[in-house]
Amino acid sequence: MTRVFSGMQPSGDPHLGNLLGAWVNWVAMQEAADCIYCVVDLHAMTSPAEHEPETLRQRTVELATGMLAVGVDPERSILFVQSHVHEHAECTWLFNCVAGFGELRKQPQFKEKSEGRGESVSVGLFDYPVLQTADILLYHADEVPVGEDQRHHIELARDIGQRFNHRFGDVFTLPRAVHPQAASRVMDLQDPTSKMSKSQSSEKGIIRLLDDPKQIVKKVKSAVTDSATDIRHDRTEKPGVSNLLEIFSGVTGEPIEKLAAEYDGGGYGPFKQAVAEAVVARLEPFQDRYRELEKDPAEVARLLSEGAARAREIAAPTLAHAKQAMGLLPPGEA
Ligand code: AMP
Ligand code: TRP
Repeated sequence: MTRVFSGMQPSGDPHLGNLLGAWVNWVAMQEAADCIYCVVDLHAMTSPAEHEPETLRQRTVELATGMLAVGVDPERSILFVQSHVHEHAECTWLFNCVAGFGELRKQPQFKEKSEGRGESVSVGLFDYPVLQTADILLYHADEVPVGEDQRHHIELARDIGQRFNHRFGDVFTLPRAVHPQAASRVMDLQDPTSKMSKSQSSEKGIIRLLDDPKQIVKKVKSAVTDSATDIRHDRTEKPGVSNLLEIFSGVTGEPIEKLAAEYDGGGYGPFKQAVAEAVVARLEPFQDRYRELEKDPAEVARLLSEGAARAREIAAPTLAHAKQAMGLLPPGEA
């Protein structure tokens, strides 16, 4: 069976982009693959300016709760917190000795995030993709569902795995990235040419999964559109309306063309009202389930500790195999 691994950072409240661009896909993949999903808390420590201990702890629980609420099934899949499985950190060291300074320095995400920060950039930010490589390779993942922006990181994981196998023998499976279709890219409601984002979007531009229905209706109604009145999908000419159509289609499962045809001619008001109601309806079961889980933190903790134990059953032998292949003396042997 295909093995799938993906992770998300507990770096802010999950929003509609995370749901339609990532989680919907994670949930669907459970039907046909062996899935492992991870709250990557170690990755969320790589930018000192954004790392506040109490917030990190809280967001880790919230993100795990969100994943459960959206339909990650802890019976069928493995759901765990990265720092609960120490093999990730240890494997990162092994890969640090295989990865090249040059290839890490050239990583687009590192370049972007370190720009203008001079010497204060953490070594962790530099090493981020190596930790990500450990996440993926420890589980022999075949497929890694991620956004387009992660393409280079997955290529690096392949390169490191391949180099390792070549030097030390066949230990790791080489993964491939799988990207959800372009239509699942959700744009900022106020600036529909930029991605909806935890860190970049304004309060009015982002729909958080736990926003209350009134807030959601207000945000959708004040979404930036254009001065015409026609409703059609054209990302270049009509980025705002196109984004709303894509969101509408994403939350209802109806084709974009059908929705456009249905609402064209009626003006933006009724169209936005319908989009808002559809988003609210889509989020309602998620929010109900989240509130239920939130009342029982002991149960969430139990599920996560079970997930970590199951993850370790896969990661520990892989790590032991890699250490042995590299010539590290197994404990108890001489
Ligand atoms: P982030 O919230 O940036 O940590 O992103 C986690 C994952 O959510 C990414 O790998 C994407 O797959 C997905 N994602 C984030 N923002 C969006 C968006 N605006 N549209 C679609 N998918 C998104
Ligand atoms: N870097 C990924 C992101 O920002 C998160 C991540 C960490 C990840 N480890 C992973 C994604 C392993 C897929 C597989 O979206």
